[in-house]
Amino acid sequence: MSYELKSARYLAREVILQTVLPGDAAVDATMGNGHDTLMLCEAVGPAGRVYAFDVQAQAVAETAKRLAAQGVTDQARLIHAGHEHMAEYVKEPVRAVMFNLGWLPGGDHGVTTRWETTRQAVECALDLLAPMGVLVICAYPGHAEGEREERELTAFLSGLSNRQFNVLHQRFLNAGEGAPECFVIQKQN
Ligand SMILES: C[S@@+](CC[C@H](N)C(=O)[O-])C[C@H]1O[C@@H](n2cnc3c(N)ncnc32)[C@H](O)[C@@H]1O
Repeated sequence: MSYELKSARYLAREVILQTVLPGDAAVDATMGNGHDTLMLCEAVGPAGRVYAFDVQAQAVAETAKRLAAQGVTDQARLIHAGHEHMAEYVKEPVRAVMFNLGWLPGGDHGVTTRWETTRQAVECALDLLAPMGVLVICAYPGHAEGEREERELTAFLSGLSNRQFNVLHQRFLNAGEGAPECFVIQKQN
């Protein structure tokens, strides 16, 4: 079969599945409907831990239901709080942190991630990463706050030391304005 270039979400999953091992600790910074939390719970297995954050009770409830249906609740800590408080809850090095920015699909579009708090959370995540750990961020510049977040994120991540981090930015240049993008940051040491 011929090789096909794939979406931002696909790359995010691929990096996570290649990086996270049974027994690891990982963070889902934007729980939403729990798809990423479930993937992380399956990747870390019963001996691992997944810390998942969301500001909406609806997201926590949806995620709890999804994990229960798959029998992977033991390794999950579902935290009803903003990811900017990550350092208060996560006290160990983690192999991976995921952000899927924007709003809850099927939910209130007014409750979206915002650059000010995203930045605080990204800084916490970079501190928490274990060596060779990854921070994976999907961004959606197709709406005003998403565009600001993507622009500020690009500037912020471009300034990281290349001795400490490798920073990858994937986007399809001809997909039209607002197409999803993926950032992958790997800690070197
Ligand atoms: C695109 S959705 C995430 C989708 C999710 N990863 C999934 O697999 O279903 C973005 C989520 O970020 C949440 N969010 C917004 N601001 C937040 C914050 N400061 N901290 C944590 N979550 C936040 C929203 O409530 C929404 O559920």
